[in-house]
Amino acid sequence: MATSTGKRLAGKTILITGASSGIGRSTAFEFARECHGNLKLILAARRVDSLKQIAADIAGEFGDGVRVLPAELDISNATQVREFVGKLPAEFQEVDVLVNNALATQQEADKFQYHSGLVKGVAKAPDIVEEDMNIMFMTNVTGLINMTQAILPTMLKRNGGNGAGDIINIGSIAGREPYVGGSIYCATKAAVRTFTESLRKELISTRIRVIGVDPGQVETEFSMVRFNGDKGKADAVYAGCEPLTPDDIAEAIVFAAGRRENVVIADTLIFPNHQASATIMHRNPV
Ligand SMILES: NC(=O)c1ccc[n+]([C@@H]2O[C@H](COP(=O)([O-])OP(=O)(O)OC[C@H]3O[C@@H](n4cnc5c(N)ncnc54)[C@H](OP(=O)(O)O)[C@@H]3O)[C@@H](O)[C@H]2O)c1
Repeated sequence: MATSTGKRLAGKTILITGASSGIGRSTAFEFARECHGNLKLILAARRVDSLKQIAADIAGEFGDGVRVLPAELDISNATQVREFVGKLPAEFQEVDVLVNNALATQQEADKFQYHSGLVKGVAKAPDIVEEDMNIMFMTNVTGLINMTQAILPTMLKRNGGNGAGDIINIGSIAGREPYVGGSIYCATKAAVRTFTESLRKELISTRIRVIGVDPGQVETEFSMVRFNGDKGKADAVYAGCEPLTPDDIAEAIVFAAGRRENVVIADTLIFPNHQASATIMHRNPV
């Protein structure tokens, strides 16, 4: 039996950036689950092999009613983004929902060898490495804007020129509350928040919904990457805490996209139960 969310989302085309892991991957599964196998998904990231595996897993679980396009894409490259959107196969061209989720952290920059930072993950001025700073801004901010600009024209043309579609930007508590050692990541997420709010105001005469989702602590690949695959250190981040799962955030994203067209879940802050701010966490003794 389809839920009201499932009925509203059925047949739509959803584009998710950063879909190869974490929240993006979970969001792909959650849309497919909610729509009972009637959906088109464009999954974008750099690790196309992971995307192909996710496409195969979705096909295995939901059948071929969910059409999946795994797409290798570096969102920080504006030319690549424009070409990618311009060359989407006909059946995927009308994107109804854009989930701007991809993320680069300083650790990501290290992983892709833009720089091997000495102050990994907690760099403070004046020790912030220029390449790290650039890759974080180019992905988290410029990349998100590249995607939005590339997709918006088709959304604006719909509905007799009144526009239709959803742009869902994944921010963070870090964009609301700067913390020590997170200056660049926090600055990128504050920029996402500001861009999201400006965009909503700029598009107010259209029927395009601009939605912001700001998670608190979520357990994803992030900590494993941060500690170079050292599971002990990664686990210590969550010691005595129960973080959110990527599925928790995916459910909120799909809920927002599945509301009645006149309902905009404009701004959502999601914490696990032990968290009250970027730095206030209750930890049980372990
Ligand atoms: N985890 C948390 O605690 C947390 C808290 C608050 C907010 N968030 C937000 O949630 C979102 C998802 O985070 P996550 O924790 O799920 O991270 P994650 O597991 O590290 O996933 C990040 C994704 O971004 C992709 N990506 C990175 N650079 C890219 C680029 N240039 N072009 C295209 N894709 C790129 C990665 O794929 P490839 O490497 O294959 O390109 C990966 O799929 C982010 O916006 C993050 O800021 C997370």
